[in-house]
Amino acid sequence: MKHATRIADLGCEVVEEILAAAKSWKRQPHRKHLEGKVLGLVFFNPSLRTRASFEAVMARGGGSAIMIEAGSESWKLEHRVGAVMNGECAEHLREAVPVLSRYVDALGVRSFSTDGNDEEDCRDALMRAFRKYATVPTLNLESAREHPCQGLADLMTIEEQFGATRCLPVLLTWAPHIKPLPKAVPNSFLLTAAMRGCEIRIAHPPGFELHREIIGEAHAYAEAAGGSISFFCEQERALQDVCVVYAKAWGPSTSRERVNDADSPHADWMLSARQMAGAAKDAIFLHCLPVRRNVEVADEVLDGEWSRVVDEAENRFHVQRALLHWLLN
Ligand code: CP
Repeated sequence: MKHATRIADLGCEVVEEILAAAKSWKRQPHRKHLEGKVLGLVFFNPSLRTRASFEAVMARGGGSAIMIEAGSESWKLEHRVGAVMNGECAEHLREAVPVLSRYVDALGVRSFSTDGNDEEDCRDALMRAFRKYATVPTLNLESAREHPCQGLADLMTIEEQFGATRCLPVLLTWAPHIKPLPKAVPNSFLLTAAMRGCEIRIAHPPGFELHREIIGEAHAYAEAAGGSISFFCEQERALQDVCVVYAKAWGPSTSRERVNDADSPHADWMLSARQMAGAAKDAIFLHCLPVRRNVEVADEVLDGEWSRVVDEAENRFHVQRALLHWLLN
């Protein structure tokens, strides 16, 4: 059975296939390729784009979606093996997932990092539990470790702008935030860009390193695809002549204490027109959204000619159509 809980489940060839199908089907918004299919969507965390885009994919494709908001409109779910369930969780995934699997053709799950521990996040226990107990294909809607649908939409947006991505200089730059955020989005951008052979630059202040397992996986993809990965602790140097600037806030590698408020020594990492001036003339700006204006990124960048953030969000719809088609066929 196919799953899409990590980009590794797809591999380079399927990623290429999905991006090609997404670009081609973008011109056929009403293509009915999911006739009669039902997608279960289990959300442990809030969402705007992921929920709306998957519901739209199913509706426009001739299928339908069932939304489960775990812990608010449905039972709070336990995933730990051997847990003594005398707390808030009324149901274990051991029953809930096989039951849902009897109703739907595929099951998507959103579950962010809970405690901000990078080792735990990399293990992705809740997503693994869904995959283990499901009897239908499972799909990652953003987990503690990865957000593969976002990574695919990011690369689709870049390819629409620049065509081939082999050796294209792209920068993933850390951004300030009022709270430490999980690393699923930067992980997925790095992994997917590596699969597509980009010249990847990652810039962050010391102490905000991505997990060594993700970096190791990305290096293997980059090597196979003819790309490269380099690291910077100065944003300005990393921006030089880069074609894509991707800003994203994420938490420190050791603990998720509150680190970035107005007095943060890293507030100058907020991306403004001054920084963007160092990038290539035709550079584009990406962010997965939601974005905190004038904390992570200045208005002038989000509203400027660099910004492709709305196209990027639209492309979630297109890559997810192609991904579901692959997953269910
Ligand atoms: N980028 C993204 O996944 O957006 P949502 O959190 O709104 O779904």
